[in-house]
Amino acid sequence: MNIRKRYAKVCLFLWVLGMCLLAHPIKAQSVIPVPLKMEQGTGSFLLSEKTKLYTNLQGGEAQLWENYLQTLPVPLKKGKKKDTRQVISLLITEKNDRLPSPESYTLSVTPERVLIQATSGAGLFYGMQTLLQLFQPSATGYSVASVEIEDTPRFAYRGFMLDVSRHFSTKEFVKKQIDALAYYKINRLHLHLTDAAGWRIEIKKYPLLTEFAAWRPEANWKKWWNGDRKYVRFDEPGASGGYYTQDDIREILDYARQHYITVIPEIEMPSHSEEVLAAYPQLSCSGEPYKNSDFCVGNEETFTFLENVLTEVMELFPSEYIHVGGDEAGKSAWKTCPKCQKRMKDKHLANVDELQSYLIHRIEKFLNDHGRHLLGWDEILQGGIAPNATVMSWRGEEGGIAAVTSGHHAIMTPGAYCYIDSYQDAPYSQPEAIGGYLPLKKVYSYNPIPASLTPKQAKLVYGVQGNLWVEYIPTPEHVEYMVYPRILALAEVGWSAPERKSWPDFHTRALKAVADLQAKGYHPFDLKNEIGSRPESTQPVKHLALGKKVIYNAPYSPHYPAQGNTALTDGIRGDWTYGDGCWQGFIDGDRLDVTIDLEAATAIHSVTAAFMQVIGAEVFLPASVTISVSDDGTNFTELKHQTFEVTKANPIKFTDISWEGNARGRYVRYQAKAGKEFGGWIFTDEIIVK
Ligand code: ACM
Repeated sequence: MNIRKRYAKVCLFLWVLGMCLLAHPIKAQSVIPVPLKMEQGTGSFLLSEKTKLYTNLQGGEAQLWENYLQTLPVPLKKGKKKDTRQVISLLITEKNDRLPSPESYTLSVTPERVLIQATSGAGLFYGMQTLLQLFQPSATGYSVASVEIEDTPRFAYRGFMLDVSRHFSTKEFVKKQIDALAYYKINRLHLHLTDAAGWRIEIKKYPLLTEFAAWRPEANWKKWWNGDRKYVRFDEPGASGGYYTQDDIREILDYARQHYITVIPEIEMPSHSEEVLAAYPQLSCSGEPYKNSDFCVGNEETFTFLENVLTEVMELFPSEYIHVGGDEAGKSAWKTCPKCQKRMKDKHLANVDELQSYLIHRIEKFLNDHGRHLLGWDEILQGGIAPNATVMSWRGEEGGIAAVTSGHHAIMTPGAYCYIDSYQDAPYSQPEAIGGYLPLKKVYSYNPIPASLTPKQAKLVYGVQGNLWVEYIPTPEHVEYMVYPRILALAEVGWSAPERKSWPDFHTRALKAVADLQAKGYHPFDLKNEIGSRPESTQPVKHLALGKKVIYNAPYSPHYPAQGNTALTDGIRGDWTYGDGCWQGFIDGDRLDVTIDLEAATAIHSVTAAFMQVIGAEVFLPASVTISVSDDGTNFTELKHQTFEVTKANPIKFTDISWEGNARGRYVRYQAKAGKEFGGWIFTDEIIVK
């Protein structure tokens, strides 16, 4: 799309925004992300046919704004430097205290004029996005209430990652998202271009990547993943998938550039590479397709391949960062592969973690030699981080903390706050998701600077990113449903000063933004009808076992301890996810087997525990439950024994399993066994005795 068309779109956008504002009048403060300083004045500026636009921008960027001027809904005349009335001025100015970053801007609206000042085109662009959000339709055109704004981003990196491998997104769809992301001042779009489910970028040297590794016989990822996980040639009937040609990539990049968004390409290595190894099996340890997911690191041809791919990628993408994945490598084939073993011996590598580190170091050197920086998931710390690498911390914040304490940059994207593929509302009300529970409020609550960091370390936290993995998200509408409005919360986390944040205020602005997005043809989650947290989790439960000792006849998993030995009698119930620190997880032996000591013989009338099923995470409801009582803790009387059929009919489900009646005893034992067929985890949050 040429620049003129792009600005025609901006106009349309402005017009639709105006129409939307007509329907939902708002206060002028309704800006996302909330600016640093904002003071209302009196009166308002009217945008009319007399309004002129002046900019002192030079070169290509000036051209962008000139075109913009000509395509606004109220056609603006070109203004002059000396104009002081009826003018919107966009001025590049010297750096000063109010404009500490190239993205900072000041916006001054008086009845006479609008003045946006910044030290770069990016700053002017962000001032303009704020102005667009402030415009309201008036009888004679549009108006903006007088206001003085000073604004600057908290973080330089404010990202969104889109997985285009599991289900492919067209370039038109990506551009549509760029419009919205830029509007909320997100400045990085990380494209997860390669993964087992499909390779998505044309690489001229390796045509099979897009003739074969980009296509599946089954469009739906879940069906494909649960099936034979095969690929097909693009010209086979029923082949489903797709990829960006290099021209498509240039088009996306040009569009992103005009919106001051840097696109970061991710090329996965050494793992998540089944699709490459099916097309080019000589790059795997077995030498056969459909056997391995990790590249063979002992094979020089692997490096030739990766460097050739990265060369084409660097020719296309101007991004300083090239993301090389690095996550979740199984590394098991390396342990017996003669080539990998030889490499380890030759390079004195003690283990397979160091072999992965060898690959990452070597690739980093290649990228650095070409003037680029390596970015990778936090597993790139394993076996020793490469000297100049930046860590994207996803398995919690630990990777990011380790990175900055060793002088590296980090980008925070911990799953608990930034993985917007999780459920955003009560799972029973939502389309199937991968699991978890990440409502808007929790995203909004995130602070990317962990409390343990020194000010110097905190400076190395480059920013924050929301990630959308699309295994369970097969359509473009569904992608938008998961992204909006949660990415708006992250936009504010990334841009706004912590002292300016307020959840109730943001919630009001987000409701408005959802309506705006709908009016513009997006498909956001319907925030106004949000159900919210699991009711049980919102207040403590009182019962006879509260605070009593729990004897673990089988251990809980150290990975999901909740609050440890007191978790099942602390009165605190879990929310819609096992990862919230309230649900305790059992994976060993028969799973849950606990005895509660009530300290004295007690009359009891019910014993209840809640369980959940999240099939995507291999969490299942129990196949049997036994509840018993005892006076001495040794001889138990069974109150209930019940078996259940464990099925995969419900991808996500919460169930209470209780005994009710009249009994007496000092000790209450609750056992819940996993089924033989699926095994998996059992989670519970409280043993409630009444
Ligand atoms: C990841 O979620 N595997 C980075």
